[in-house]
Amino acid sequence: MKYAYAALVSLAIAAGGVAVFTPRDDTTVPCAGAKALSTSSVAVGSDTVELTTFSCDAVPSAHKASPVAAASDACADTTCTNVCAESGSLPPTSEDCDKIFDAISIFNSSISTFTVNPNRATTLSFGTCRAFLQNFSPSAPLTFCWTDFAAVAAAAGKACFPPVQPVMSEGLCEAPEGVWRVGIAHS
Ligand SMILES: *[C@@H]1O[C@H](CO)[C@@H](O)[C@H](O)[C@H]1NC(C)=O
Repeated sequence: MKYAYAALVSLAIAAGGVAVFTPRDDTTVPCAGAKALSTSSVAVGSDTVELTTFSCDAVPSAHKASPVAAASDACADTTCTNVCAESGSLPPTSEDCDKIFDAISIFNSSISTFTVNPNRATTLSFGTCRAFLQNFSPSAPLTFCWTDFAAVAAAAGKACFPPVQPVMSEGLCEAPEGVWRVGIAHS
């Protein structure tokens, strides 16, 4: 398991270039310096999934390389590399994460995309699980398709949580140049 994790990390470094994975506060969920700006909730059956927008600390050096396409109806390119991390002591439960995926389908049935403004993160949380999209760009909004977000978050969870990784608590997919990341983690 240790070997597999090391392989993933070095893959990520190879794909992302030199500046991106320097040891900043990368494992904070959803982002370093997170301050909740707004919260709304969606009912999934008898449960409630929270959608929260956070402001994040600006990352001065590492994340200005490629500007993200301006907000439009187009979905962002979702090329990214999975990196497993620990943001707490346990993985989230798959039941709680599934509730988040149900909420994503509900959002998706009314509008297919969502936009995260510069230096912000959008999270969906339920119980032990939280899924998020962080936009590291200092200036460009990032528009993602809900379907892509669900697929990328699910793949990161699959790569980083049991049975593949027994102890990791965070699965990330980092875009090239660190322009954005999708994460799924213990909340
Ligand atoms: C979002 O809606 C589209 C169109 O109906 C559908 O094909 C897709 O599977 C949905 N994605 C999710 C995550 O529900």
